[in-house]
Amino acid sequence: MNDIVLEAKNLKKYYTRGPETVKALDGVDFSIRKGEIVSIVGPSGSGKTTLMNLISCLDTATSGTLNVGGEDVTHFSESQLINVRRNYLGFIFQQFYLIPNLFAVENIELPLVFAKKPIDQKKILEVIELVGLKGRENIPAFMLSGGDKQRIAIARALINDPKLLIADEPTGKLELKVRDDLLVLFNQLVKKGIAIFIATHDLELAGMTQRIIHLQDGKIIPKEQSSLYY
Ligand SMILES: Nc1ncnc2c1ncn2[C@@H]1O[C@H](COP(=O)(O)OP(=O)(O)O)[C@@H](O)[C@H]1O
Ligand SMILES: [Mg+2]
Repeated sequence: MNDIVLEAKNLKKYYTRGPETVKALDGVDFSIRKGEIVSIVGPSGSGKTTLMNLISCLDTATSGTLNVGGEDVTHFSESQLINVRRNYLGFIFQQFYLIPNLFAVENIELPLVFAKKPIDQKKILEVIELVGLKGRENIPAFMLSGGDKQRIAIARALINDPKLLIADEPTGKLELKVRDDLLVLFNQLVKKGIAIFIATHDLELAGMTQRIIHLQDGKIIPKEQSSLYY
């Protein structure tokens, strides 16, 4: 069973807004295994961001359990959650959040700098080759193409050897070519045993993942009941 990278059991997140309780997540159950690429889709307000925040260890649930990378993080403290983020998770964002005038390679090293970990040159070379940036690692990020900026962002997400890569709306404003590159890379990564979880509005992207989770009103629903058309 240690193939399971992520497991949510009856996961709930309630917010209080004045006299009202908002059931942003209302009993969600699912799991993701090593080497799986799974997307989550749902209309605005269905709870996607709430779920991503829990999985990203940025917030904790109201009830239920959440296992990330083999650890039950449900009742973890702030500092324990930070460790899970550093050791098990990688993040990819739509706006790549690069530091423009640092070299590509320096951007990739940033998570190690923040985590005060030694800079492992072999590992850095490995991720640079993996994402296809070899030869351009010593160019300032701002001088590179959109596709290459994405490669830097992915390499940076991989530098800590994450078990789970989390992508929140990764393709929002991307050109088609950049999106296709992203999918090719994602498929390479899952073959290496990483799991990838994507929240997206892009139904075409979702359709290319191995499994789609449909969220509505804080609950997982069968595809047939989804109001999203694709
Ligand atoms: N911090 C918060 N306080 C109160 N309500 C919230 C908060 N965050 C989200 N919500 C509510 O929870 C529901 C789910 O929101 P969200 O997870 O952002 O959905 P999505 O990302 O699918 O659009 C919505 O009704 C939203 O208004
Ligand atoms: Mg959202």
